[in-house]
Amino acid sequence: MEALGHHSGSVSYPLPRGPRVNLGCGPVMPKGWINVDGSRRAWLVAHAGGLDRLLVRLGLLRAAPFRPDIIHHDLRKPLPWARDSLAAIYAGEVWEHFEYEDARRLTEECHRVLMTGGVLRLCVPDGVEFWENYLAIFREQQAREPEARDVARLRRHVRMYFDDICTRPPGLKSFGHFHKWQYDEVQLVDLFMRCGFKDVSRQTFGVSRIPDIGILERSDFLIVEGVKR
Ligand SMILES: C[S@@+](CC[C@H](N)C(=O)[O-])C[C@H]1O[C@@H](n2cnc3c(N)ncnc32)[C@H](O)[C@@H]1O
Repeated sequence: MEALGHHSGSVSYPLPRGPRVNLGCGPVMPKGWINVDGSRRAWLVAHAGGLDRLLVRLGLLRAAPFRPDIIHHDLRKPLPWARDSLAAIYAGEVWEHFEYEDARRLTEECHRVLMTGGVLRLCVPDGVEFWENYLAIFREQQAREPEARDVARLRRHVRMYFDDICTRPPGLKSFGHFHKWQYDEVQLVDLFMRCGFKDVSRQTFGVSRIPDIGILERSDFLIVEGVKR
């Protein structure tokens, strides 16, 4: 396994020609990609665009973050493409929103629909970085006299974990907005490999076998890429 390089940009790779899909796109809807999201607003824009625009004009909804060509799909269901039909799949900050088993099924689905030579690239928050930051704050504060410690910094970190990361509120509220799993490089590389991907490795932000990755990759988090062989 080898990282592709350390400079921003594409690497020389014969990506097959074919459709490229951006899963869980949110407001990031680059041209030249099929942009997919499963939120209720994506459903409204995709299936009742006139009603959506009317509700915006009446001031009942804010302007949608989606263009009318958004594809609405709940990624916990099988992907709506044929076997061996896509050249590339990207998902930025999406996999952590699924229970682990749902993420595993979705990764297998990505493998099914990609062509031979097709690339899956995922970007997720890095659990290791989160806990390393926690430990760094802890050690810094522990080294001080108790009266001189800034305990609030540790509490903020713990609150972020319980409020934004590991919370599993029941019902609709949980859709897409809370993390249901935490990844690290070891787990994510393993997930790709168990789902059949080859040449799996952690990648640098902006460096990819997918030539125009710069137009849709937003976060320099944990990024892993694999190829269907
Ligand atoms: C944190 S946003 C990431 C948006 C964008 N990809 C980016 O890089 O900024 C997560 C997106 O995943 C979508 N999402 C979450 N669960 C989903 C599901 N089950 N099916 C489809 N989309 C889902 C949400 O609607 C949301 O737009």
